[in-house]
Order: sequence, then C-alpha cells, then structure tokens
Amino acid sequence: MTAHMLRFYPGAPEEIALCGAYLAHRLHERGSAETPFVYASFVSSLDGRIALRDSATGESRLPAGLISDNDFRLFLELQAQADCLVTHGGYLRDLEAGRLDDVLQVGTRETTRALAQWRADNGLSPQPAVVIASASLDFPVPDSLARYGQRVFIATDAGAPADRVAHWRTAGYEVLIAGTGASVEGGALVRELGHRGLRSLYLLTGPRMLDTMLRDGQLSRLYLTTAHRLLGGESFHSMLSGPELRDIGRLRLCALHYDASAPDGTGQFFAHFEPRPA
Ligand SMILES: NC(=O)c1ccc[n+]([C@@H]2O[C@H](COP(=O)([O-])OP(=O)(O)OC[C@H]3O[C@@H](n4cnc5c(N)ncnc54)[C@H](OP(=O)(O)O)[C@@H]3O)[C@@H](O)[C@H]2O)c1
Repeated sequence: MTAHMLRFYPGAPEEIALCGAYLAHRLHERGSAETPFVYASFVSSLDGRIALRDSATGESRLPAGLISDNDFRLFLELQAQADCLVTHGGYLRDLEAGRLDDVLQVGTRETTRALAQWRADNGLSPQPAVVIASASLDFPVPDSLARYGQRVFIATDAGAPADRVAHWRTAGYEVLIAGTGASVEGGALVRELGHRGLRSLYLLTGPRMLDTMLRDGQLSRLYLTTAHRLLGGESFHSMLSGPELRDIGRLRLCALHYDASAPDGTGQFFAHFEPRPA
C-alpha cells in the first residue's frame, strides 16, 4: 500500500503521498559553489531524545521506538539529493564495530534503485562525495567508499595530530584543515567544500556538528521527525550538546506533515525549519 501523510502546513490540510515528498524539495538546486545548501535531519522522541546511552557499557543507540520505514524512506530521499555526505570519525568507528549500518551510498539495494536513477536523471554524480570530520583522525575508512568510487575528504582542524594528518595524506586522502582551534569550523568547512564544486551538503552527523554549523550561521535547513512517544531514560543525547545558542537557535517552520501510521502504532510529525534571519 502506498504511504500517505497529511500536510498541515503550509496551506489547507491535504493528504499527499509520502514517497517523493522530500525529493520534491530539489535541494541539489538550492545551493551554489559560493553558498552551498547545508541540511541536517534528526528523529526525536517527544521528550527530546535522539539516542539513549547504556549506563553499563557507555554505548549509545537509536531506540527502536524512533525507527520506521516511512521516516527511513524520507531519509533516503534527503540522501539522494546530496552532492556530499558529511560524516564523522565516531560513525566510522561504530560502523566497523557493527553497531550501525552503512548509509554512505545511494540506491545500492534492489528496493532503492529508483533513487540512483533519480540522481542520474537530475545530473548528480552516481554517488555523493563523503567528508569525514574528525579531530582525533583516528578512524577506519570503510571499503564501500572505494568500491563505489566516491570522492573522500577528511576534515580536521589546526590542532589535529601532525602524524595523523601525514598518515592520511600519505594514504592518498585530501585532508582539509577547516578550523584554527581544536574543532572543525562550519564556515571553513563549507567554504572548502564549495570550492570543490559541492553544492548540497547533507549532515549525517550528530549534535556536535549541528552546533558547529548553526553557531557559524551555515545551516540552511533542519529536517526533524518527531515520533509521538515519550522515551525517558536517564542518559541520553538530544539534538545539541553545546552551550546556550540564544538568537542563532531561532527557526521558522517551512512545512509540517502528520503520518498517523508509524512508528509502532503511534504517529509522527515530519517538519522542516530554516534559520530565521536576525
Ligand atoms: N536520532 C537521530 O536522528 C540521530 C542523529 C544523529 C546522531 N544520533 C545518535 O546520537 C548519538 C550522538 O551522536 P554523535 O555520535 O554524532 O556525537 P557527536 O558528539 O555529535 O559527534 C561525535 C564525533 O564527531 C566528530 N566531530 C563532530 N563534530 C566535529 C567537529 N566540529 N570537529 C571535529 N570533529 C567533530 C568527532 O570525531 P573524532 O572523535 O574522530 O574526533 C566526534 O567523536 C549517537 O548515538 C548517534 O548515533 C541520532
């Protein structure tokens, strides 16, 4: 059965097909080399949790109650529109340990082939480039990146260990020094990627990179799925981990959709926001 959702805003409420709803945003056409379009997505519970941390092992996980096929479909549509996926050292370590699935390629499964075709039809490269943001520079590179011929950049800061920078350069990777301190900076990273012709940048990262991009005024759009459930849990992650944001945290709603069917017999909102100009 084809999934539908109710669009609450903008306009009068209307039932629309879920498949294709985010492809219609044409994010790959919204940026330029001078000003790439930078977007992020999160799925959260009503009590603001995006992941729970196991107090015994310290490991974090996405709770099953936040996961749904409908949300994943929209995630894949966002991914399909990217010139470049931004990931980080922590994700690659989790991938190698088998704690997370590989989401660094588009349309490689039978069920998602149409998204690869969509990229071809819309003039995008077969696979997005991948940027690995890391301060430690201590991560494994998954074989899948070479297998699918993806451009790979490593982004770090001026405080990164020199021997690790040399290690990655010797291994043939382009290392971007995008920050003067102990962290990658949003403005420097986006500028470097824009110079390399990348115009739509999808942040597959977490709270720290969202904070980095927002604080530097680089975030163009935030997609947020809110699952209609409370999770609780004493140790958890929310969308942001840094100090108070003040005015830079002001957002404007662009659209709001209601999916009554998922996850897990509850419901969810699909919303997206853009930073509100000062
Ligand atoms: N529900 C959701 O939608 C959602 C979305 C995202 C994440 N999550 C989950 O939330 C939890 C926390 O997210 P996270 O692991 O992404 O944590 P995080 O604290 O945001 O990022 C961790 C890693 O990112 C790298 N990094 C991020 N920003 C950087 C910067 N500005 N400069 C240099 N390096 C930077 C660092 O790599 P190095 O250690 O290599 O230096 C760091 O270890 C995880 O369980 C994750 O799976 C959930």
